[in-house]
Amino acid sequence: MSHLIFSLLCKYMIQEIQSVDADIFNLVIAEQQRQATWMEFIASENYQSKAVLAAQSSVFANKYSEGTPWRRYYWGQENTDKLEQLTIDRAKAIFRCDHANAQALSGAAANVCIYAWLLEPGDTVLGMDLTHWGHLTHGHPVTFMWKIFNFVRYGMKDTSTWEIDFDLIRKMAHEYKPKIILAWFSAYPRELEYEKFAEIAQEVWAVAMADMSHIWWLIAAGVLANPFDAGFQVMMTTTHKSLRGPRGSLILSKWTVSNPLKKPDDTIENIPTRIDRAVFPGVQWWPHMNTIAWIAVALHETTQPDFKMYAEQTLKNAKVMAEEFLNLGYKLVTWGTDNHMIVVDFSETNLNWTIVENALDEIWISTSKSTIPDDPNPPYRPSWLRIGTPAMTTRWLKDDQIKTVVGRMDKAFKNHDNQEVLSTLQKEVEQMSAAFPSPSL
Ligand SMILES: Cc1ncc(COP(=O)(O)O)c(C=O)c1O
Repeated sequence: MSHLIFSLLCKYMIQEIQSVDADIFNLVIAEQQRQATWMEFIASENYQSKAVLAAQSSVFANKYSEGTPWRRYYWGQENTDKLEQLTIDRAKAIFRCDHANAQALSGAAANVCIYAWLLEPGDTVLGMDLTHWGHLTHGHPVTFMWKIFNFVRYGMKDTSTWEIDFDLIRKMAHEYKPKIILAWFSAYPRELEYEKFAEIAQEVWAVAMADMSHIWWLIAAGVLANPFDAGFQVMMTTTHKSLRGPRGSLILSKWTVSNPLKKPDDTIENIPTRIDRAVFPGVQWWPHMNTIAWIAVALHETTQPDFKMYAEQTLKNAKVMAEEFLNLGYKLVTWGTDNHMIVVDFSETNLNWTIVENALDEIWISTSKSTIPDDPNPPYRPSWLRIGTPAMTTRWLKDDQIKTVVGRMDKAFKNHDNQEVLSTLQKEVEQMSAAFPSPSL
């Protein structure tokens, strides 16, 4: 179906809200306006295409489909079975793995599902230190998982090298005998040495797992390495963020797929079936079939020629942004980037989080806070700013515009108490934003 028809469909759906609920309609329109006028540099946000948005609003939302394709508990599954199988097949082909589960409702749920079936209570997971870059869902003490499993932590060597401490990982792996060694983090702007993780996991018979939530779209586009090629067995990801898909997830795995109705032995070869059983009925019940339709369309979009162009330009834009910040005298985590994000350090300047947040708010640019190794400040008021280029690359900003944006950010920081300068910058940002519209707004 052409984009024109989707566009009309989306308009029609928004008008449907207007006729039923004016309050929500007004909020939708206001948010549409905000997204169209602000510049989006939050590393994990993006603009979904109209086709992706339309798939989410489809009649698949009406369907109860517990189970897996061709093995369900409710009637009327001829279309949901095909839909889910197609999604699984697309994911397997893109990531070159043996199995995909698209049912976990979000990245957090996907991580819980993996822990739930690969681990017994008290079992150990070796993951990145949460005061460095580890994600909350990798076993932060505020989470439920922390009460059940034993999370132990590796970290960075130090901030003069920014190197991951593989000697420590090996030492801890042999000491604690984890069932899972977990790689990937929240704000790490470099590629990881997957072979080293996989080698250590093999030495201690652990599952090598990667939480690819931030970068899997770059793997899908073929511009970053795929951990499966280095010997990882399980990979999960959110499907929103830079993929431009829905709030959902994929759990991807290697090895043998068997009938999930029969409990498999707890061996590594059975990981795919153990994960299917963990998702349903282990942790969740009804899969959101409309979200699965949404994931399928987003996966299809990754195979189109302009997706690779988008991925390559996003990386180029991030590099240009890093260079501009460095030229202006800012300090960057790892001094640059290999992916779509850069992390700017304000700890040694006279700026603080409040100044940075207010200055960017005033000129209509969004970014996000980031904790990084050994930050003396709390997560809510850190000394670091994470900036990502995917969303504005969806709007086809290129090198020159990125340089202009960095110049405006710098000027806003330096003139954070000068309302006149900030107002002028805001008008300039708004004008540039209008000149690079999002395809779905
Ligand atoms: C690395 C990582 N893992 C897991 C999650 C959780 O995903 P979700 O928000 O879909 O629950 C996130 C989300 O921000 C993330 O960045």
